[in-house]
Amino acid sequence: MCGIVGYVGGEDCASFLIAGLKRLEYRGYDSAGVALVGPQGLGVLRSRGKLVNLETLVVKERPQGALGIGHTRWATHGRPSDENAHPHSYGGVAVVHNGIIENHLELKARLRDAGHAFTSETDTEIFAHLIADEVAKGLDLLAATKAALREVRGTYALAVVSAADPETLVAAKNASPLVVGYGQGENYLASDVPAILERTRDVVFLEEGEVVRLRRSGIEIFDARGQAVTRKPRRIDWTPVMAEKGGHKHFMHKEIHEQARALVDTIRGRASLEKGDVTLDGVSLDAEAAKALTRATIVACGTSYHAGVVGKQYIETLAKLPVEIDLASEFRYRDPLVLPNTLCVAISQSGETADTLAAMREAKGKGARTLAVCNVVGSAITREADDVLYTHAGPEIGVASTKAFTTQLAAMLLLAVKLGRLRGTLTSEAAREVLQALNAVPGLVDQALEREGAALEAARAYSSAKDVLFLGRGLQAPVALEGALKLKEISYIHAEGYAAGEMKHGPIALIDEDVPVVVIATRDPKQGGQDTYEKMLGNMEEVRARGGRIIAVVNDGDTHASAIADKVLPVPACSALVAPIVNVIPLQLFSYHVADHRGTDVDQPRNLAKSVTVE
Ligand code: F6R
Repeated sequence: MCGIVGYVGGEDCASFLIAGLKRLEYRGYDSAGVALVGPQGLGVLRSRGKLVNLETLVVKERPQGALGIGHTRWATHGRPSDENAHPHSYGGVAVVHNGIIENHLELKARLRDAGHAFTSETDTEIFAHLIADEVAKGLDLLAATKAALREVRGTYALAVVSAADPETLVAAKNASPLVVGYGQGENYLASDVPAILERTRDVVFLEEGEVVRLRRSGIEIFDARGQAVTRKPRRIDWTPVMAEKGGHKHFMHKEIHEQARALVDTIRGRASLEKGDVTLDGVSLDAEAAKALTRATIVACGTSYHAGVVGKQYIETLAKLPVEIDLASEFRYRDPLVLPNTLCVAISQSGETADTLAAMREAKGKGARTLAVCNVVGSAITREADDVLYTHAGPEIGVASTKAFTTQLAAMLLLAVKLGRLRGTLTSEAAREVLQALNAVPGLVDQALEREGAALEAARAYSSAKDVLFLGRGLQAPVALEGALKLKEISYIHAEGYAAGEMKHGPIALIDEDVPVVVIATRDPKQGGQDTYEKMLGNMEEVRARGGRIIAVVNDGDTHASAIADKVLPVPACSALVAPIVNVIPLQLFSYHVADHRGTDVDQPRNLAKSVTVE
């Protein structure tokens, strides 16, 4: 998720663009740039690193123009560099873009055949080429942009200017946020409200598929079918701090609600239902190497470790490859046995976790092939791994991991399908079934988020607890671990996650009326042919018999578990393999609301750091 700002009006706008980008700095970025259309035509300035580098360039070059776009980039395709920074330009057209173009390889090949040369590794540059070609045919900027969009599959918030039309800014939205702001004799565009809040509080948030034309005189919005739509601007009364959080009280809450979009970005362009297969750019493992694998070893810490525990089950089920999982912080201390033809999968949101990096190095040093599942492009772990699978969650600011976790699960499932196809253990029909289930997940996650009220109610009822137990079985056992970690790190309530079958082997001694027990009691009939639901009902009865209070994650329409539980957290039913992605949502919301109710520093819990770069 990068930042976009745009301006059309009566004044030179370079300083407005820089000021707008500064307000998006909190989100993190690796490069920035501006494009202005003025008396000298189109001028583009870009710089890697901090915004101050771009600012220095702007002061030196003094670009002129009362029409412009600016961008802060958080790399997805292509490493952070001057060349990969936005805006990208071609033939007098400049574009900035948030999101991912799924068919970029196809489009790039076609454009290359037609004589186009590319100067960056990004998917975005394609837009500049496609739109410039349409402008050269005589279309105005709006029509040219619409024509280019018809060629593109993927997610985007896009802003375009052209030297041929110095009075028009065109933008389009599909799955990435975009907002237009109304001024006097000038109008604004941004990916996030803070960028334009100082100039206007009258905004319209664009809807999916909308294309918009901004001029000094006004803003025209067109829906996905090309029909003009009129929408009354909404007055925003957010403070600048609220605006940074998109109106949410905390970044963590915002990020919990961004998960459907993050999952779409992670899955799209990789899962092919037609082929019943997965394409992973950045992973060059071929069928021969995949078949030769004897074992996979997953190394990770914290939340990423929990994603690894689920990932182990995915790979063993779909690719029939034995998988070991280790806490990265422990791996080196047991002189691990790394057999020939081992694939070491290092999972890390930040890509900078010292223990995970050291564990991956250890495995590599002992001959393993390494694959990083990571969210931050160009981070240390991605630089050292042989293959990289990016999670595309976008920047995660809240210290407690939420969207990074669910996108790691999606990435691990994609990897398992890929390995299964390469190793010949998964037919294309079976792969298609898994991918169909995965494609449905963003919608199901949104449905789970709609039931936030239940998590809020449960949080209010139990926020004064001192200890909480989390229980789950099979694929839901790591979800229980993750639920407990979320609660303890942000609310400071002592919480333990257990595989439910372990309850009788110790933790049951803790249970009394003061220890709420959160159980994941959804149905999963397909998992290994065993439905763990009945067994979870048994655990719930045992808790109840000891006076324990039960909060149960159940499927919509559930009757049995709901009848035993004191509070229920409903989620939509889904296929067993993807259920961890959906079932963790109410646990994130529950933890969030408990912490908020207790008044802790949700985004920056005490003693914790977002990236743990020391061992
Ligand atoms: C928990 C959390 C941590 C991280 C862990 C690993 O919410 O965020 O447990 O998961 O520190 O970090 P990464 O994934 O960056 O390697």
